[in-house]
Amino acid sequence: MTLLGVRNLRVHFPTEEGLVKAVNTVDLEMKGREKLGLIGETGCGKTVLGMCIMRLLQPNTEVAGEIWYKGRDLLRLSEGEMRKVRGREIAMILQNPATSLNPVLRVGEQIAEAIRLHQGLDKRTAWARAVEELEAVKIASAEERAKEYPHQFSGGMQERAMIAMGLACDPALIIADEPTKGLDVKIKMQVVRLLKEVVREKAMLFITHDLGAAAEICDRIAVMYAGEIVECAETSEIFRNPLHPYTQGFLNSLPNRGLKPIPGVSPSLIDIPSGCRFHQRCDCATEICEEEHSEMVEVKEGHFVRCFLFGEKDA
Ligand SMILES: Nc1ncnc2c1ncn2[C@@H]1O[C@H](COP(=O)(O)OP(=O)(O)O)[C@@H](O)[C@H]1O
Ligand SMILES: [Mg+2]
Repeated sequence: MTLLGVRNLRVHFPTEEGLVKAVNTVDLEMKGREKLGLIGETGCGKTVLGMCIMRLLQPNTEVAGEIWYKGRDLLRLSEGEMRKVRGREIAMILQNPATSLNPVLRVGEQIAEAIRLHQGLDKRTAWARAVEELEAVKIASAEERAKEYPHQFSGGMQERAMIAMGLACDPALIIADEPTKGLDVKIKMQVVRLLKEVVREKAMLFITHDLGAAAEICDRIAVMYAGEIVECAETSEIFRNPLHPYTQGFLNSLPNRGLKPIPGVSPSLIDIPSGCRFHQRCDCATEICEEEHSEMVEVKEGHFVRCFLFGEKDA
């Protein structure tokens, strides 16, 4: 059954330089307990998509489309109703724990506060639950550590604390935004292993640069480029048989796959090119790619790609 259904989502930011078209006609479908990876270069709209699902974007943002969650369109909920969804139904583990944790609050208090807010527990019970949450993310001497401030935590521990906070109200869906960014390899692997364990019974939208982590955790992967999804398939299929030239380029740019960067840069989201957004950087581009924008085509069961090299010909 569908847990989250994003339909034709568009997120545009009016700015002095022009309209930043951060997310364009995005469709996503997630089942309960499914882990969906969202990958793509910096600035392609991953965080904005996550924040939009949480409805955490600034008020003047232009949002169109639908975000169905357990049968309700989140974009149509009142702010009061949405508050009940945040944390309890859907939690977001934000990018960069150093700035997301409150520096003047003890780590345990921050988690206890989240629990109290949503579950109406008294202070002592909420604190005890917070300590349990820290234990659940394998922070040693959690009782003592809970009394510390974020700066007393290492990067890996801060990330664990963020995960604990996300899990505190037992949401059905976690949106994790680059949870392994900036961590060294060993700590990264620990965090990935931990995440995998704690979200086993949940659905997760896993935003990452780290393809190794995505391969380890995700059932499916969606590849984003310049504000839209260009390919989506099961994880093994994406790695074995990447179809979109951007996906191929992105994979080849990774350290363990040749470190070959894609020539050129992503287009400005204010001035999006006509046709396929990737055509200026694509070796396979033909005339049609400059002029027309491809639909998402299901090339084989469960494997979708937005590229004129596929689909039209077989149809
Ligand atoms: N509040 C905002 N106002 C204007 N532009 C924004 C805002 N937030 C994000 N953007 C722009 O939207 C695009 C997507 O950003 P983001 O989702 O953060 O990318 P990433 O894929 O790296 O997470 C970027 O070009 C970014 O500059
Ligand atoms: Mg981001």
